[in-house]
Amino acid sequence: MENNERGQWGSKLGFILAVIGSAVGLGNIWRYPYLLYTNGGGAFLVPYFVALFTAGIPLVILEYGFGHKFRGSAPLSFARASRKFEWLGWWPSITSFVILSYYTAILSWAINFLFFSFAQSWGADTNSFFFNDFLQASTGPFDIDGMRWPIFLGITAIWFINWFVSYRGVSGGIERLNKVLIPTLLGIMLIIVVRGVTLPGASLGLNRLFTPDWSKVKDLNVWIDAYGQVFFSLSLAMGILITYSSYLPKKSDINNSAFITAFSNAGFEFLSAIGVFGILGFMATNQGIPIDEVAEQGIGLAFVVFPEVFSLMGPLGTVFGVLFFLALVFAGLTSSISLLEAFSSAVIDKSGASRKKVITITSIVGYLICVIYATGAGLFVLDIVDAFINSFSLVTVGLIEALILGWVIGADKIREHTNSVSIYRIGKWWEIMIKFVTPAILTVMLVSKLINEIKTPYGGGGYSTTALLILGWGVIGAIIIIAFIAMSTKWHKGVLEQNIEQDEEAM
Ligand code: ALA
Repeated sequence: MENNERGQWGSKLGFILAVIGSAVGLGNIWRYPYLLYTNGGGAFLVPYFVALFTAGIPLVILEYGFGHKFRGSAPLSFARASRKFEWLGWWPSITSFVILSYYTAILSWAINFLFFSFAQSWGADTNSFFFNDFLQASTGPFDIDGMRWPIFLGITAIWFINWFVSYRGVSGGIERLNKVLIPTLLGIMLIIVVRGVTLPGASLGLNRLFTPDWSKVKDLNVWIDAYGQVFFSLSLAMGILITYSSYLPKKSDINNSAFITAFSNAGFEFLSAIGVFGILGFMATNQGIPIDEVAEQGIGLAFVVFPEVFSLMGPLGTVFGVLFFLALVFAGLTSSISLLEAFSSAVIDKSGASRKKVITITSIVGYLICVIYATGAGLFVLDIVDAFINSFSLVTVGLIEALILGWVIGADKIREHTNSVSIYRIGKWWEIMIKFVTPAILTVMLVSKLINEIKTPYGGGGYSTTALLILGWGVIGAIIIIAFIAMSTKWHKGVLEQNIEQDEEAM
């Protein structure tokens, strides 16, 4: 499967575990529980499930069906479908590479905290420990202020693992890693959740989580958050699902794989929300403070509030801490591998260079870029790049994908294809979703987010306009320009003309 030959999954289970591995990531463990909490507890489930059904599931089927039909990474699939849309394959693939560059930095924090959790070396003031001692955050995104060596070491370890696994190929590396890590991750999460909800005071957290605040459902921002979360969490518009499904043999059930992926990911998010809120309830009870004061945003929840809770638990806290950060590392690793694959498979397909060579060069370049996040400015750069990619790039790609694939390439052709290989046949409703409903909703989301951004720039005045222009809009602009440059380069001989009907082996 090496050199110029494309990889293939060893089994359907291997594929399913790999896509679940890609979906379940840092987004599920620290982002989702907080979103659920701030956006009205149980009431957030309404926009979340609407987003899942109107954009998430239809787009997962679309990306799977498209990659499977055209049997290529995102740029190759688009180029095979219509040469003029090849850029639409590069945009998400390059976005994956950008996400990967900061995703691995957060993973490095998690690895460091995994080690800290053995001796609970964060001390009594976990907030000060994280921001001042560990990150040593500087004054802003342009104040580099030297290297944070523990973060640098973590980044080195993560990139080495990514390289080591991907180098071994689709079935020999990625599939094997997921087969070990995903079941282990599920086991760890179940232990955390079961113990978490039986802690004294856990019900306080759970009540808070499941007491819907319906007023939030009227807030457009809550809806935007829900769509953003569904995109990020399902690894949509990153070229990943297109690439992963292109590694499936011809006779593979696409429709049921799409539902399994979407529901496993939602289930996992729900599970982590229950675990996290049980634990927060314990902390609020133990400290005698209202629960609203303990729940903090994303990074803070995992790296500030949780360490504090683990310290409160005594010896049990050490076990909890190790398990929690191990879960974060495992969940993040399987996602980072998929981000690397979406980008490298695009380069392999286009250049015809060997997998080993492309993975090695991509890893070295990615690692060097990632070093920015190990500096004092890292946190700020990460915050801006992540916010803009999530709010604008992913949703825009999803929207254009739905329009081009739905109207130009033909949603009917893709539906016909997925139905021809699947037991459960999707109906006409799916075409209506892809051609009308999904684009309409995503347009409303995007326009309102843009208006919001113009009115109140990201960070509420905390960042300079230059910082937002360069690291926010600039990064997205650069991704699009590079996508067009990549499109203008020549395809490796014969790859576009290859007879994709015959390019298969039975599983
Ligand atoms: N889908 C991955 C996550 O949720 C990127 O973290």
